[in-house]
Amino acid sequence: MDTAEGPRPVELEVVVPPTLEGELADVGIVLGSGLSAFAEGLPSPRFVSYDDVEGFPRAGADVVGHAGRLALADVDGLAVAAFQGRVHMYQGFDALDAAYPVRLAAALGATTLIVTNAAGGVSAGLALGDLMLLADQMNLTGRNPLVAWPGPEGGNPFVPMSDAYDAGLRELARDVAAGEGVSLKEGVYAGLLGPTYETPAEVAMLRSLGADAVGMSTVVEVITARALGMRALGISLITNVAAGAHLSHDEVLAAGEQAADRLSRLLTGILFRLNA
Ligand code: HPA
Repeated sequence: MDTAEGPRPVELEVVVPPTLEGELADVGIVLGSGLSAFAEGLPSPRFVSYDDVEGFPRAGADVVGHAGRLALADVDGLAVAAFQGRVHMYQGFDALDAAYPVRLAAALGATTLIVTNAAGGVSAGLALGDLMLLADQMNLTGRNPLVAWPGPEGGNPFVPMSDAYDAGLRELARDVAAGEGVSLKEGVYAGLLGPTYETPAEVAMLRSLGADAVGMSTVVEVITARALGMRALGISLITNVAAGAHLSHDEVLAAGEQAADRLSRLLTGILFRLNA
């Protein structure tokens, strides 16, 4: 037998699992730590536990603040698939697994991805409770979900990331925020592997690199979205000043609760405008 096998190519596309057969989505939304409440406010949401989605990467337990279920809803004709809780690489998953919600959203037909996350503020212009539109990202996780991906049919795996976050969607988000009276900052998100929070030296490094906020998610999801031809929008909630006073996960969740209403108004406004 020939044992000289090369690396196994990976597939980004997932098959729609039986419990979601017949479901469709226009927009996929990934809700980060403490930000899940938005899904409960969707019109007549139908919830499907991740446990009931065959193929969904599951750890032994959900990280507190991550509900672990998918909400499907119709927002005035726009089919929304909102993921309450994500898959983190710091739980031991690889980058492709971390991007599973995005891949599933794409399999359901979504062409737009909205990612939200809790993040630490790195730049001086960001304060606790701020919402920040992601203008760009730095993948500092050391992982990439496209490793061993052969590219789309007849294509190549070198996905351009010069427009990771869609300019039109950002414009729309700024517009909705202004109309809702919701303050919206804008900056660069640095994604690290975690699960440790950063040292002061690491925060100084991130600042000198040009990062405005830091977190442990999002970047591999958006890489995957771009590879799958989806446009992406990202919003961070600044839950703390990075490397500030000792930060507990509870504080991250409390900041999420405090911002839930503003984020919900922003997301709802964006969904209505996407539909218009
Ligand atoms: N660092 C990394 N991830 C985070 C932080 C932080 O300060 N706050 C919330 N998520």
